[in-house]
Amino acid sequence: MSNITFTMIKPDAVKAGHIGAILAQINEAGFRIKAMKMTKLSMETAGRFYEVHKERPFYGELCEFMSSGHIVAAILEKNNAVADFRTLIGATNPAQAEEGTIRKRFATSVGENAVHGSDSDENALIEGSFFFAGTEQF
Ligand code: CMP
Repeated sequence: MSNITFTMIKPDAVKAGHIGAILAQINEAGFRIKAMKMTKLSMETAGRFYEVHKERPFYGELCEFMSSGHIVAAILEKNNAVADFRTLIGATNPAQAEEGTIRKRFATSVGENAVHGSDSDENALIEGSFFFAGTEQF
């Protein structure tokens, strides 16, 4: 069990002005911010980040959306980080997300679902190092 996960606040939530409310909910749930930045993905960078989904029918739409505006990327630390963060954000499809979860509160659709959360300890490390050098992690 690892103690880090990786998240992005996606362009829909950034555009809607939800950065502060989402970070507050993350802090209140006991996660420590180990690294954080606001940035913008190109189509090429989004394509590399989501390469595991390359064969999925929604891949093009996903990369276009993720490069359509600013994102906030962060590495978060907590015991049982990956599983606890997935509980905090709720189901990928906000229609199926539990009341009070970040996606239930802020997401509008399965594609524009407000936040990303790593699905495994291994991917948390890969995704965190995609965005942050060792010298940017505290
Ligand atoms: P995320 O956790 O960032 O990881 C992959 C993303 O693909 C997922 O969130 C969704 O935003 C997106 N996704 C999954 N299924 C669909 C779908 N059917 N249509 C559009 N986007 C999808």
